[in-house]
Amino acid sequence: MANENKISELLAKREKAKLGGGEERIKSQHKKGKYTARERVEKLLDEGSFEEYDMFVSHRCTNFGLENESYLGDGVVTGRGTIDGRVVFVFSQDFTVFGGSLSETFARKICKIMDQAMKVGAPVIGINDSGGARIQEGVNSLAGYAEIFMRNIAASGVVPQISAIFGPCAGGAVYSPALTDFVVMSEKTSYMFVTGPKVTKTVTGEDITTEDLGGATVHATKSGVAHFRVENEDEGLMMIRKLISYLPQNNLEDPPQTECTDPIDRVEDLLNEVVPANPNQPYDVKDVIYLMVDDREFLEIHQHYAKNIVVGFAKFNGISCGIVANQPNYLAGVLDIEASRKAARFVRFCDAFNIPIITLVDVPGFLPGSNQEYGGIIIHGAKLLFAYGEATVPKITVTLRKSYGGAHDVMGCKQLRADINYAWPSAEIAVMGPKGAIEILEGKKISEIENPAERNQYIAEKENDYKEMFANPYNAAKYGYIDDVIEPRNTRFRIIRALQTLQTKKDSLPPKKHGNIPL
Ligand code: HXC
Repeated sequence: MANENKISELLAKREKAKLGGGEERIKSQHKKGKYTARERVEKLLDEGSFEEYDMFVSHRCTNFGLENESYLGDGVVTGRGTIDGRVVFVFSQDFTVFGGSLSETFARKICKIMDQAMKVGAPVIGINDSGGARIQEGVNSLAGYAEIFMRNIAASGVVPQISAIFGPCAGGAVYSPALTDFVVMSEKTSYMFVTGPKVTKTVTGEDITTEDLGGATVHATKSGVAHFRVENEDEGLMMIRKLISYLPQNNLEDPPQTECTDPIDRVEDLLNEVVPANPNQPYDVKDVIYLMVDDREFLEIHQHYAKNIVVGFAKFNGISCGIVANQPNYLAGVLDIEASRKAARFVRFCDAFNIPIITLVDVPGFLPGSNQEYGGIIIHGAKLLFAYGEATVPKITVTLRKSYGGAHDVMGCKQLRADINYAWPSAEIAVMGPKGAIEILEGKKISEIENPAERNQYIAEKENDYKEMFANPYNAAKYGYIDDVIEPRNTRFRIIRALQTLQTKKDSLPPKKHGNIPL
């Protein structure tokens, strides 16, 4: 064959591979409001940066007549490209080929790019849209999943792993995204569950729709499986690009530092006003975050889940930081099971990838009740405690208002190796709030006062004494648990200066195989 012919053959094969399962199935994919696997990759990556691997791979299965049906690429598009000029590895499941179902060779393609991502130290982004194990391949498909799981586990804490769910993701297939750091789900077109509505109905009698069992809203609000719920795939792909901009390429790198044009000494008078005089009045801690960070840009993670704690990424003087903040606007910012799990996972992610943690504290304590106790708040609260204590990245804590009881210890206190602890003058750092404290300390005396007016007068006086003693930052500052009480409007500058100092911080844990975080 002349060279010209050989080249034509290559180009023809490429064109064929690009068609996946064929034009009809591509049309059907578009009709469902979904992009094809290749369109997704093109939109995710910098223009022209994608280099595809294994375009000519096809399956080797001969069961159920499959020897007569095969497609170049075998149902998954894999390769590497860049996002804002930084290398990432990608796989994108192609629903037009056997419903994106996973074969032995399909799994090998994914494993190949994961192995290379680990070697070069670059993030892995997986786009899921699949009918699960390729039924004709039987146990080879299950083995393929396990090969991927093993790599997800090995890569955890080494390179960032992000999953997008833009179609079905069911059965054991859910566990690969679940092992990754962040999950993005598109509304209406995606779902995730271990067992679907039909089996659920047979086994438990429960009648439930696909959307109600495993849609994006359910996972973004109830289960916490999804970190981001997006309206459509375009938004999801842009979200991943944004997320990547806050992350280092791997665990040996510092987080990205970009040029900062927002003045580092920007004084924000509004911060002096943000905490209401009445300690029982809520405010939105996100206002505090927006006022402090570079260019008011904050990427919130788990926005709709456990809203009593806010976590996400922002930059201070161009340095990526993780922010953890109690939210007085929702359940008074109390710590419960979901909030503890949400924040613990985030703190551990930041620590694994060298991202400093800024903690903003306004917490009245842990949520009481049998629901919480039976659900294991002891274990889940301990997760957050463990995560903070274990983290060796720079840790800066700012107490805005309440910091009571066990929740005070959990939320990045000095003894959990926070490096710099600031408090605002509105801070109240104590074992509990004045009302509860006086009920316990003075309960007997109070019950002995018969005249209601006298009784109330007595309670008010005692609560006042307690407030003067503890409902302020100075008692904690007296012992050095707070390094400085700062004017709220200077918080941005104080955090940035602290971060600059801590850039060379070194800290460690005793040598061990791994800790035993209470799971
Ligand atoms: C082989 C599959 C397939 C599969 C779909 N297809 N799933 N082929 N193995 N698992 C094929 C269909 O035959 C069809 O081929 C094409 O993909 C599109 O499927 P449709 O059913 O026409 O599409 P749709 O109506 O959109 O329904 C999508 C679906 C449904 C809900 C995903 O296909 C489905 O229920 N599939 C089976 C899901 C499943 O039970 N998977 C195994 C789960 S066990 P043609 O040629 O007509 O285009 C599992 C274990 C993993 O995954 C374990 C890991 C540890």
